[in-house]
Amino acid sequence: MSQIKFGIVGTSPIAKKFIMACKDIPEILIYGVYSRTEEMGSQFAKEMNIPHVFTNYKAMLETEDIDAVYVASPNAYHFEHVDLALEYHKHILCEKPFTSNSKELNCLIEKAKDKKFLMMEAMKPLAMPTYHTIKENLNKIGEVRKIVFNFCQYSSKYPAFLKGENPNIFNPEFSAGALMDIGIYCIYPCIDLFGMPKSMKCNANKLANGIDGSGSILFDYQDKEAVIMYSKMNDSSLGSEIMGELGSMFIDHISSPTRIELRQKGKESEIISEGLKYDPMYYEVREFTDVLLEGKTESDKYSYKLSCGVMSVLDEVRRQVQVIFPADKSL
Ligand SMILES: NC(=O)c1ccc[n+]([C@@H]2O[C@H](COP(=O)([O-])OP(=O)(O)OC[C@H]3O[C@@H](n4cnc5c(N)ncnc54)[C@H](OP(=O)(O)O)[C@@H]3O)[C@@H](O)[C@H]2O)c1
Repeated sequence: MSQIKFGIVGTSPIAKKFIMACKDIPEILIYGVYSRTEEMGSQFAKEMNIPHVFTNYKAMLETEDIDAVYVASPNAYHFEHVDLALEYHKHILCEKPFTSNSKELNCLIEKAKDKKFLMMEAMKPLAMPTYHTIKENLNKIGEVRKIVFNFCQYSSKYPAFLKGENPNIFNPEFSAGALMDIGIYCIYPCIDLFGMPKSMKCNANKLANGIDGSGSILFDYQDKEAVIMYSKMNDSSLGSEIMGELGSMFIDHISSPTRIELRQKGKESEIISEGLKYDPMYYEVREFTDVLLEGKTESDKYSYKLSCGVMSVLDEVRRQVQVIFPADKSL
C-alpha cells in the first residue's frame, strides 16, 4: 500500500481539522464522508472538496476504495462505528476517548488484533515532537516527586446547557462530560510518562443531569503524586508542571504542548521547545500513516497497553464519582 484512502465519520469542526492536517500528508486521500443527512454531508463535502458523500454508513464501508476510517462521532458511537468498520476490513483512526468504557475497548482490540488491522486513538500530543522533548528531558529534573497536569477550558456549549438545552458534550447519553472530553488529555501523558498509579482519589463537580462539568484526581505513585485538574465550566491560565528534586519542567498546554521550559536548580531557566512546524493534529495522522505503510498493526507510541491503562483509569474515576453512561450497561 502506498496511498491511504480515508472515509470520514462526522462533519463537525474536528473532522475539518483532520482533513486540513491531511493536506500535509501526500500519502492520504480523503475519499468520502458519512453524514446522517444528505444536506450536511453535501455541504461538508463541498466545503472540504471531498468526492463522495454517504448517508448510509454500511454503504461507505462496502466501498473497497476506502482503506481507513476516521471516526469523529460522539463518544458513545465510537464502539459501533469502529466495530462495523473492522467488520468491513478497514483500518481505524478513532477520536478520543476510544470508547465509553474498558469492556467496549477490550472487545475492539480483540477484533482488531484478530483481523490484523491498525486501530489507533487520536490522542494528538503523544506524537507531537514537543511531547518527545518532555520525555527526552525528564532525566534532567532528577527524581520526579509531583506532577500537576491541568486542562480547564470554558466550553462554548456550556451557555446552551445553562439555558436548558442538551448539547451532546454535556449529555450522558453520548458518554460525554469533562473527564471524557478533556480530563483524558491530562491522564494520557501521566500514564505514559509515569505508569499506572498505585491508587487514586477523585472528585467531580456534577451537573444536574449527572454529568461531570469539572473534576480533580489525585494519583498516588507512592514515591510521587500527580494532581489532575480539568473543567469545562471555567478557563484557567495555569499550565502544567512536572516537578523533580533537581528542577521542573513547565508545559504551556498539556493537550497540545508548544512551549516547554526547563528549570534546573542553580541554572538559568531554558526554553527547550517553542513552536511547531505543523498543526498539532498533523503528527498523529503522520504516525498513523507511517505505521500503516510500514505494514504494522499497532503503533508503539499509541500502544493498546497504554490505551487500556488510560481507559481503566477513566472507568475508575467514573466509578468513584458515579458518572454512569447508558453504554456501561450494554455489553
Ligand atoms: N482531538 C481533538 O482535538 C478533538 C476536538 C474535538 C472533539 N474531539 C472528539 O471528536 C469526537 C466528536 O466530537 P464533536 O464535539 O465534534 O461531536 P459532535 O459535534 O457532537 O458530533 C460529531 C458528528 O457526529 C454526528 N452526530 C452528532 N450527533 C449525533 C447523534 N446524536 N448521533 C449520531 N451522530 C451524531 C454529526 O455528524 P452528522 O450530522 O453529519 O451526522 C456530528 O458532526 C468526540 O469523540 C470528541 O472527543 C476531538
